[in-house]
Amino acid sequence: MPDGLFISFEGIDGSGKSTQARLLADGLRAAGREVVLTREPGGSDGAEAIRRLLVEGDPERWSAETEILLFNAARRDHVERLIRPALARGAVVITDRFADSTRVYQGVARASLRGLVDQLHDLVIGIEPDLTFVIDMDPEVALARGLARGSGEDRFEELGLGFQEALRAGFFDLALSFPERIVMINGAQTPDEVAQDVAAQLRARLDG
Ligand code: TYD
Repeated sequence: MPDGLFISFEGIDGSGKSTQARLLADGLRAAGREVVLTREPGGSDGAEAIRRLLVEGDPERWSAETEILLFNAARRDHVERLIRPALARGAVVITDRFADSTRVYQGVARASLRGLVDQLHDLVIGIEPDLTFVIDMDPEVALARGLARGSGEDRFEELGLGFQEALRAGFFDLALSFPERIVMINGAQTPDEVAQDVAAQLRARLDG
C-alpha cells in the first residue's frame, strides 16, 4: 500500500455525501495535506464520458449487466489515471462514491447481481478504500433533496422511494460485512455536525 490515504463517501441519492466529501477535503487541505477530491461515476476524462451514458436517459436504457460493465469501465479508467497515481505520490484521495455503490445499486437494489459485481471488481479494479463513510439518511428526506436539484442526471433518482429504501438497507448490510473499513454516520444532523462526526472518526482510525 502506498503512503497515500484512500477515502470514499457513500450513501443514497441526496444523502449529503458530496457536501461531506468537500468539507473533509477542505479540512485536510487546511492541515497541509495534498487532497484529490473526485467522484464516481467519473473523475477522469474517460470516466466522465462514460458517466453521461449512465446518468442520462431512460432508467431502463441498459440491462443491469451492461450497467455493471459500464460502471467498471469508468472505475478502471478513474483508478488508472487518477487514483493510483495520486496515492503513489502520497496524496489523500477522497471520492464521492466507489465500488460500494455498485455493490448496493447493481448488486442488491436494481438486480441481485452481487456475485457478478464482486467477480468483476476482483478482475479489473482490485483496490478498496482505506476508509469508507456511509452517510445514513431517511430516504424520504434524501429523495426530496435529490429531485429538488433538477440536474437532469435523474435516471437513478426516478426509480422512487422503495428503491431508495432498498439502497439504505443495502448500505447498512455492507457496513456490517466490512466493519474495519466502513463507518456509518448519522446524516440527520446539520452539515457541520455531520462533518465533525466524520473528522472524529477519521482521527480515531488514524490514531488506532
Ligand atoms: P452521483 O453523481 O453520486 O449522484 P448523487 O449525487 O445523486 O448521489 O451518482 C449518480 C448515480 O449513479 C446515483 O444515482 C448512484 C448511481 N451509481 C450506481 O448505480 N452505481 C455505481 O457504481 C455508482 C458509482 C453510482
